[in-house]
Amino acid sequence: MGSQGTGDQVSITTRGLVSMVILLLHIRLTDGAAPVQLVDIQISDDIITCSSTGIYPEPKLTWSTDPPSDLSPDNGTSQKSTSTKVNSQGLYDIISTKPYTGNQTNICTVTYGTREKTTSLRQQDLPVTCIFSEECVLPCSYQPGKDEIIHWVKLDNIRVHSYYYSKDQLEQQDQQYKQRTALFNNQILEGNASLLLSNVTVQDQGRYKCYTSTIKGNQESFINIIVEAPVRLVDIQISNDIITCSSTGIYPEPKLTWSTDPPSDLSPDNGTSQTTTSTKVNSQGLYDITSTKPYTGNQTNICTVTCGTREKTATLQTKKNAKGKHKMVECMLLQRVM
Ligand SMILES: *[C@@H]1O[C@H](CO)[C@@H](O)[C@H](O)[C@H]1NC(C)=O
Ligand SMILES: *[C@@H]1O[C@H](CO)[C@@H](O)[C@H](O)[C@H]1NC(C)=O
Ligand SMILES: *[C@@H]1O[C@H](CO)[C@@H](O)[C@H](O)[C@H]1NC(C)=O
Ligand SMILES: *[C@@H]1O[C@H](CO)[C@@H](O)[C@H](O)[C@H]1NC(C)=O
Ligand SMILES: *[C@@H]1O[C@H](CO)[C@@H](O)[C@H](O)[C@H]1NC(C)=O
Ligand SMILES: *[C@@H]1O[C@H](CO)[C@@H](O)[C@H](O)[C@H]1NC(C)=O
Repeated sequence: MGSQGTGDQVSITTRGLVSMVILLLHIRLTDGAAPVQLVDIQISDDIITCSSTGIYPEPKLTWSTDPPSDLSPDNGTSQKSTSTKVNSQGLYDIISTKPYTGNQTNICTVTYGTREKTTSLRQQDLPVTCIFSEECVLPCSYQPGKDEIIHWVKLDNIRVHSYYYSKDQLEQQDQQYKQRTALFNNQILEGNASLLLSNVTVQDQGRYKCYTSTIKGNQESFINIIVEAPVRLVDIQISNDIITCSSTGIYPEPKLTWSTDPPSDLSPDNGTSQTTTSTKVNSQGLYDITSTKPYTGNQTNICTVTCGTREKTATLQTKKNAKGKHKMVECMLLQRVM
């Protein structure tokens, strides 16, 4: 079956032309029926287009959504438009457009004779948060069927992982994913196309497409990977009447704020006057942050490092009865996840 590589070669942008060519190459006339090789679905400017070419006998095309929309105003022909034409070989090309409807999965079914092929598109990206250097599962599922093809692609066109002919196909895998990807092989036949990505890097961030295909049809869904390296440790130190607060290996870019207990309303170091904060990026793309400020007498000094929705606080307390200049009593660490 020469069509196994199809989804692989066809990017969403250039697909129309390429798929036509491929279809012409692979059309086989069996039992007087030309099989539907590919049902292509695309979105642009809030219009979804579903098309398939080189079919016989004359196909029908229907739209549905998941979850189904009962009150669908586009039940009739109101907002859809479908057209069929016959090519020079006497085969049918069918194309249909309809307005893009929000969050649903849009499903296009092409029926010819007694057979049907469906293709579905979940446009809404599923956001997945992956933790730097850890493992992460990119979920994807499909309706089980024979001749499974799975392609994980990072958009626009970086090959992450492929599977067909009942095995992983990693010859074309991009270098940056080498030895870091795996499918759940014992669950593929049940429709599990989820990808396990290990040792997550900052560069893994971005949009991924899961393309699956079986004899029953093909399907695309999108995942948006967000990488986080949470604040692990906030260090606070005092030397020569300067307090230094620092934290390393954070992603995305952290913020650092100072406060005191009791609060100092008239605090002169509200602005940038006396505190200096600097951020730098290390070789792995993670942020290191450091801030200094003059040591202020009896108060408890609190340094808070925030990254995304998580924050970590380091506190420096001083004892009033200290004989020396200032004794550090405690460095307290607490994490608050909001
Ligand atoms: C939409 O179509 C379905 C089945 O084709 C039908 O049961 C339903 O009544 C229709 N709804 C409207 C609003 O026309
Ligand atoms: C998408 O779904 C969310 C939550 O289910 C809802 O609040 C939002 O209005 C939906 N958006 C569209 C365009 O349907
Ligand atoms: C696929 O299998 C893995 C491992 O059991 C599981 O974590 C994941 O949730 C499954 N995904 C789907 C979509 O079923
Ligand atoms: C994870 O990636 C980093 C940087 O790319 C590398 O130095 C490290 O060896 C990798 N760890 C594992 C367990 O593969
Ligand atoms: C210091 O900043 C806080 C909040 O950022 C503000 O409410 C307060 O008025 C500021 N104080 C001075 C003296 O600027
Ligand atoms: C520290 O506390 C002592 C006793 O409460 C007070 O006399 C002194 O003024 C304080 N110093 C500062 C810098 O707040």
